[in-house]
Amino acid sequence: MTTKKTDKDYSIYFQPPSLSDAKKRGKEDIAVHYNFDIPEDMRSIGENKFYLIQTYGCQMNEHDTETIKGLLEQMGYRATEDRQQADVILLNTCAVRENAEDKVFGELGHLSHLKREKPSLILGVCGCMSQEESVVNRIMKKHPFVDLIFGTHNIHRLPHLVKEAMFSKEMVIEVWSKEGDIIENLPKKREGIKAWVNIMYGCDKFCTYCIVPYTRGKERSRRPEDVIAEVRDLARQGFKEIMLLGQNVNAYGKDFEDRKYGLGDLMDEVRKIDIPRVRFTTSHPRDFDDRLIEVLAKKGNLMEHIHLPVQSGNNEILKRMSRKYTREHYLELVRKIRQAIPDAVLTTDIIVGFPGETDEQFEDTISLVKEVEYDSAFTFIYSPREGTPAADMEDNVPYKVKQERLVRLNDTLNVYSKRNNERLMGQTIEVLVESESKYNPEVLAGRSRTNKLVHFEGPKELIGTFVKVKVTETPTFYIKGDWVREAVTH
Ligand code: 5AD
Ligand code: SF4
Repeated sequence: MTTKKTDKDYSIYFQPPSLSDAKKRGKEDIAVHYNFDIPEDMRSIGENKFYLIQTYGCQMNEHDTETIKGLLEQMGYRATEDRQQADVILLNTCAVRENAEDKVFGELGHLSHLKREKPSLILGVCGCMSQEESVVNRIMKKHPFVDLIFGTHNIHRLPHLVKEAMFSKEMVIEVWSKEGDIIENLPKKREGIKAWVNIMYGCDKFCTYCIVPYTRGKERSRRPEDVIAEVRDLARQGFKEIMLLGQNVNAYGKDFEDRKYGLGDLMDEVRKIDIPRVRFTTSHPRDFDDRLIEVLAKKGNLMEHIHLPVQSGNNEILKRMSRKYTREHYLELVRKIRQAIPDAVLTTDIIVGFPGETDEQFEDTISLVKEVEYDSAFTFIYSPREGTPAADMEDNVPYKVKQERLVRLNDTLNVYSKRNNERLMGQTIEVLVESESKYNPEVLAGRSRTNKLVHFEGPKELIGTFVKVKVTETPTFYIKGDWVREAVTH
């Protein structure tokens, strides 16, 4: 751990990304705490005050924001959408690609004006970017008006940190280099009909392009009984869908002493809970085992959608990404999934322009896409992340070529998205109605079991319920249909 004292009145504890240090991290026990409480003197700090949180990045961050909101509300703060009204503004940041970081620095620029108008405003930066030393240094130098920086391992310290920021003239910085223990009973402000549930934290995969194992720390699984109790409670509260979350969910349980309990076992227990829909993300192909496939094939409340990031279709690139599987292994996994669950929808993540990727190697990704026929995918141009091994690899691929590859990849993916949607024409599918459509309030928007976006006309009272929809049109990115007035039992 590096400890830096600055000439200001604060100390910073964190570790810049270092593969060799991070890989040395041991399997020492992580303690689980069940007795979190906000001290009495902090419970009214936020009375008559408002907070606003801007969240960037993945679902893990969205879920952390729910915890941060829960903590702030227990301190008396209330939510606002209006920046002028806010007394606390937090940016919960993402470090996975450079453009995510650029957005945050841009936003800080805008917020500096607000801070000048309202000096009592507490402006904070948290999330993955805070775990990077270079980011903290840049904020200290270029955005000294920021009041508070905290990381991903000490969210539970928020009440103390807000209090400190309120009374301190200095920037309050608390970033832990090592992951802390698991704190079980943090408050969470959940809204709507869908709920995220963490099953594990961190990642030990160390894909060479990825910053996450450094910003989120080592893999720590929550105890199955705690996950199950939380899901039961959400079912009792009436949530219709839960998403089990982890950076690499297939490694669930590997850090348990006996290593005998995995994601398949957990899903098999969650399957028996009376909650209509259960999803999980994100999978890593290497750890996706037969037990999980066998359990998913039982269906019921386990949805037939698997997000299975492949990243590349070329073995040499996969090796340099340190993905620890081959194209053949991946395709075999796809075959096994499809055999056990013939109507499973597969989606993926793909990176183009990894350092040194040749045209031929990129063609292997295209051919893999054609072979798997994904329903959709998130596609990215490789973005070097300081401190990761790939950032030091020689990269002779011009950016323009990377952009062209991205366009070609997306065009190829769209062919299969459309084709797969067309197969649903005329079928009646079950939809969980989520909201009015963003573009037309007459139209309702929901999701199929396979997570496809479905639009149909119907009364607003249907929001939050399950309906049947007969598919009438199949554009590439969503499905249109007619509401079938037929009862759905859930
Ligand atoms: N550059 C581009 N894409 C990245 N991803 C992760 N790190 C990088 C990076 N450095 C992508 C991967 C991952 C998804 C969440 O983000 O495809 O699956
Ligand atoms: Fe990053 Fe996912 Fe690889 Fe972990 S498994 S290092 S989160 S890409």
